[in-house]
Amino acid sequence: MRILVTGGAGFIGSNFVRHMLATYPTDEIVVLDKLTYAGNITNLPPLSTTPRLSFVQGDICDERTVVQVLEDCDAIVHFAAETHVDRSLLQAQDFMRTNVQGTYVLLEAARQQHIQRFLHISTDEVYGNACSPEGVSRPSLETDTLLPLSPYAASKVGADTLAFSYWASYRLPVTITRCSNNYGPYQYPEKQLPLFILNALEDRPLPIYGDGQHSRDWIHVDDHVEVLALILHQPAAHVVGEIFNIGAHEERTTLQNARTILKILEKPGELLSFVQDRPGNVQRHAVDTSKIRQQLGWQARISFAAGMRQTIDWYRDNPAWIETIKEKHNEFLMAALQRGMPR
Ligand SMILES: NC(=O)c1ccc[n+]([C@@H]2O[C@H](COP(=O)([O-])OP(=O)(O)OC[C@H]3O[C@@H](n4cnc5c(N)ncnc54)[C@H](O)[C@@H]3O)[C@@H](O)[C@H]2O)c1
Repeated sequence: MRILVTGGAGFIGSNFVRHMLATYPTDEIVVLDKLTYAGNITNLPPLSTTPRLSFVQGDICDERTVVQVLEDCDAIVHFAAETHVDRSLLQAQDFMRTNVQGTYVLLEAARQQHIQRFLHISTDEVYGNACSPEGVSRPSLETDTLLPLSPYAASKVGADTLAFSYWASYRLPVTITRCSNNYGPYQYPEKQLPLFILNALEDRPLPIYGDGQHSRDWIHVDDHVEVLALILHQPAAHVVGEIFNIGAHEERTTLQNARTILKILEKPGELLSFVQDRPGNVQRHAVDTSKIRQQLGWQARISFAAGMRQTIDWYRDNPAWIETIKEKHNEFLMAALQRGMPR
């Protein structure tokens, strides 16, 4: 299979590419990535020594580029997106453009070129707070109403429902996945866990939004990419037209995460720093994964305890990767790293 991976130079996309190359020896991968602040070509294996991998720098909103790279491809795995909730609260325009318009361009090109599989990577953010229709807290089901609470989440609802409509209207072979929060190597350090790890390593305060009681289900990226590859290689009848929640049943609050990281790194509790909550912060994200367990027999294998130790080791052992990012002096990242400092 020849697979177009959009956003393959980002966090989850690059882990997916590595997993595919290591696990499926006959598959070929073409990465299409704009290399925004979040994309990094060094997240990928070296192109010169990886013959089954090719790379195109380009924008998914650019129809001509998309049509060109799709030639000879059998499948699309669509990761490319603007992904950071905090940024979407300040500047939502890029989110609407890439996440909604970009997804439309890909779907339309896929329809015209008779692509055999379109795996659309959505998120559990589309559900908003995890609860029943009566408002009782419980993990989200694939059939729940979508009630996004941030511009990021709303743009992903746009993409997710658009993808579904291409299945419903044209029978484009779409599968949608809604995964919970990921962590692991190569995650851009504006996101909660790498930010906490970097600050703890460098003895800076860990900024905790509000009272720190917001909870998420944390999944190691290796578990996520494994199940995505599994879905991609299922017979079409098992997965096409389906929506699957993906999660690890490792619900933890922000405060618990910060304390775990400080404990592993043997840093003092004084580094915890409570800061003003962000608008629309979801109280609880959690997904019910019964469907994927029953239909594909899959469940996450990596415990948070083991995954977090491995992730901390990776950030500690890869200072050059972190320096390359810091050298770009991304203003938003610099502000995020300083957020917990006393004013
Ligand atoms: N990180 C999570 O916890 C999580 C959880 C569930 C779902 N997701 C979804 O998974 C996908 C990947 O997330 P991530 O955390 O790896 O994101 P990321 O921000 O690390 O990477 C996004 C990648 O997309 C590329 N990109 C952005 N705009 C583009 C454009 N217009 N054209 C081409 N490439 C573009 C960037 O350069 C980058 O390489 C996203 O769709 C996200 O919504 C993420």
